[in-house]
Amino acid sequence: MHANSAPITFTITRPDDWHLHVRDGAALQTVVPHTAAQFARALIMPNLKPPVTSTTQALAYRERIRAAAAAAGHSAFEPLMTLYLTDQLPPDEILRAQEAGIVGVKLYPAGATTNSDAGVTDMRKTYATLEAMQRVGMPLLVHGEVTSPDIDLFDREAVFIDTQLIPLRRDFPSLKVVFEHITTREAAQYVQEAQGAIAASITAHHLLYNRNAIFTGGIRPHYYCLPVLKREIHRQALVDAATKGSPRFFLGTDSAPHATHLKEHASGCAGCYTAHAAVELYASAFEAAQALDKLEAFASFHGPDFYGLPRNTGQITLRRESWTPPHSYAFADTSLKPLAGGEMLHWRIA
Ligand code: DOR
Ligand code: ZN
Repeated sequence: MHANSAPITFTITRPDDWHLHVRDGAALQTVVPHTAAQFARALIMPNLKPPVTSTTQALAYRERIRAAAAAAGHSAFEPLMTLYLTDQLPPDEILRAQEAGIVGVKLYPAGATTNSDAGVTDMRKTYATLEAMQRVGMPLLVHGEVTSPDIDLFDREAVFIDTQLIPLRRDFPSLKVVFEHITTREAAQYVQEAQGAIAASITAHHLLYNRNAIFTGGIRPHYYCLPVLKREIHRQALVDAATKGSPRFFLGTDSAPHATHLKEHASGCAGCYTAHAAVELYASAFEAAQALDKLEAFASFHGPDFYGLPRNTGQITLRRESWTPPHSYAFADTSLKPLAGGEMLHWRIA
């Protein structure tokens, strides 16, 4: 669809966010309503302090998120839960998780990102647990970056594919894997061509920006996330992957709220907050690629199909309307700065 012939409104099946951080406590009241206003479901990442490592913890966390959504009038919103993989996560926890409807287990290589200290130090230590996951069909959600200091930060994802992901999938050929928030041409190509059950989530910010955004006119911490934004050729490869209709790619915002003062800091936190305008930001990216007609499958079909969950039955309508998100939102007892705050957007959920 060409930009000039784009419709004034378009309606799609209500989407899901397959990768979301909402934190806990008072923060939930301020961020969950943004997601619940747009999405039917969201897959909640477990990197709390301490991390969510048991089914019992995940179910209690789900209730806190549901309560925050309901308090904002979104009682139909469904948080889908994950467990945090550690060197010690026991295989029998996988069976409990499976029975309780936990949707996946998240792999953070130790030291890779926010609250990843408890992450995996050596994949071998997790093999009995991965075996159990493979057996029951529990997906492994992968933060795909190596962490060793001798690898250039911008190469961490590509090196992860060769040194970690390919060997892992050779050892567990029927383990379902989601390569989360992919950022490189190498990752898009690997996921497109690999054998077996693999898919990838793609954020709106990695579709919209390249690494120049972090440095334009001075250092801009609100564009800093992990995996970090890459070169333009990588952004283009991600746009191609998202907009060509392949069922292996789906929407996952990785919206990651941090207080403004912790991002505008000498060692600022990684994460872009996009929940306030998630579908609008994806619509901008798809429209720029003249592919608005591919947005619905990416946002609403490919995720549930991969996870073996039903597609949503409700709908949302996007209207062509210029509006400017605020510079700042409340975040627990402080504030956060959303991506594209104060910048004009051209689509808005009706
Ligand atoms: O930028 C990021 N922020 N990347 C991650 O992997 C974690 C996330 C967070 O939790 O803040
Ligand atoms: Zn994340």
